[in-house]
Amino acid sequence: MGDAPYAPLAGRTIVLCITGGIAAYKAPLIVRSLASRGAHVDCILTEAAAQFVTPLSLQSLTGRPIYTRMFPVEHQRSYEIEHISLADKADLVLVAPATANCLARLAHGMADDLVTATVLATKAPVLLCPSMNVNMYEHPATRANLATLRNRGLEILEPEQGFLACGWEGKGRLPEPERIAAEVVRLTSPQDLAGLKILITCGPTCEDIDPVRFITNRSTGKMGAALVEAACLRGAEVTVISGPVALKYAPWARVVDVRSASEMLAAVKEGLDGVDVLIMAAAVADYVPKEYQRRKIKKGRSEMSALELRPSPDILATIKPLKDKRFFVGFAAETDDLKENALEKMKRKGLDMIVANRVGEEGSGFASATNSGILLSADGTQEVFEHVEKTMLAHTILDKIRGAW
Ligand SMILES: Cc1cc2nc3c(=O)[nH]c(=O)nc-3n(C[C@H](O)[C@H](O)[C@H](O)COP(=O)(O)O)c2cc1C
Repeated sequence: MGDAPYAPLAGRTIVLCITGGIAAYKAPLIVRSLASRGAHVDCILTEAAAQFVTPLSLQSLTGRPIYTRMFPVEHQRSYEIEHISLADKADLVLVAPATANCLARLAHGMADDLVTATVLATKAPVLLCPSMNVNMYEHPATRANLATLRNRGLEILEPEQGFLACGWEGKGRLPEPERIAAEVVRLTSPQDLAGLKILITCGPTCEDIDPVRFITNRSTGKMGAALVEAACLRGAEVTVISGPVALKYAPWARVVDVRSASEMLAAVKEGLDGVDVLIMAAAVADYVPKEYQRRKIKKGRSEMSALELRPSPDILATIKPLKDKRFFVGFAAETDDLKENALEKMKRKGLDMIVANRVGEEGSGFASATNSGILLSADGTQEVFEHVEKTMLAHTILDKIRGAW
């Protein structure tokens, strides 16, 4: 498995149309977010947008000419008809921010500037990111225009709720550039997992000792979150059952929050219905306190001789009888005898695949952006991975599941 950086938009051309809303100031950051994922970005600015963000800033970031007018001035004349060549070369046309004015003109099929003409001429997917004052957004004219555009198959990323630059509070904020770039990746990704329902467990569990203290482990949920994102991008319907984590999951997933191993078991049992694939990426506690102390255990004793523990409920062992035709993937975190331990776990738990991670070293396991270990399948195939980004590893795991499914 290679160690190239993950660039889901490599080789893709995104035509970014910027219209004249206050959120146009975020356009350079959108360019950065797209470029950092490997995209070539061509920018078109309306006349109004150029009041908010300069072509020079965008040109410096993209390293490419910025398009501002339908009819180039004499000395800039090229042999290309720009709205057609931009429309043709786009893998996706992104309008961000999209003003109320632009939505109205698009809804009526107008083509009187470079943005509207390009959107009309393209066969690529179009993603609109409306952003405006809440009253403009909620106006029946804007609602009707958005409904028309949605019915025609244009994609719309809803604005967010919050304080608006105009002083009002409500729906109208442009989503953050990273959120917009994530949507672009989803819309340009092959939907090879469409129709598949995947349940993924993630993060650590926390086992309470008393109202103040608990036992947990070093899992941050990074590997599981990478799987959640990759599966969503490829069109799967994903539910995450997550222990307490600090990270955010991909916006398209349904998240069920749990705390302890027994809560996770209950959620997995409930969530299995209709699921095709179960990926158990959570680091579930092996031992839990025998008894929860309702009152805080007081400090002051010279020593505390014992904290009594009992084994936690074994989630995979409990749900094994419910497996049926479902594909089960487990994870194993080991410091020693990685392959032997993982093979034994795969057999004992009746798994179709196991991802064995080396833990306790730099660049692998908990909290790390990369992972090292071995992927083992019940059909006998195996693949070693060394310091592979978790985002890349997630796609490899999903490729294998898809191949075996
Ligand atoms: C300071 C200022 C901020 C504006 N912000 C927005 C906005 O956030 N959203 C919007 O739809 N229109 C906004 N407008 C109005 C648009 O700039 C105006 O409708 C313009 O004609 C849009 O042109 P365009 O769609 O061709 O870019 C704003 C205008 C000004 C002066």
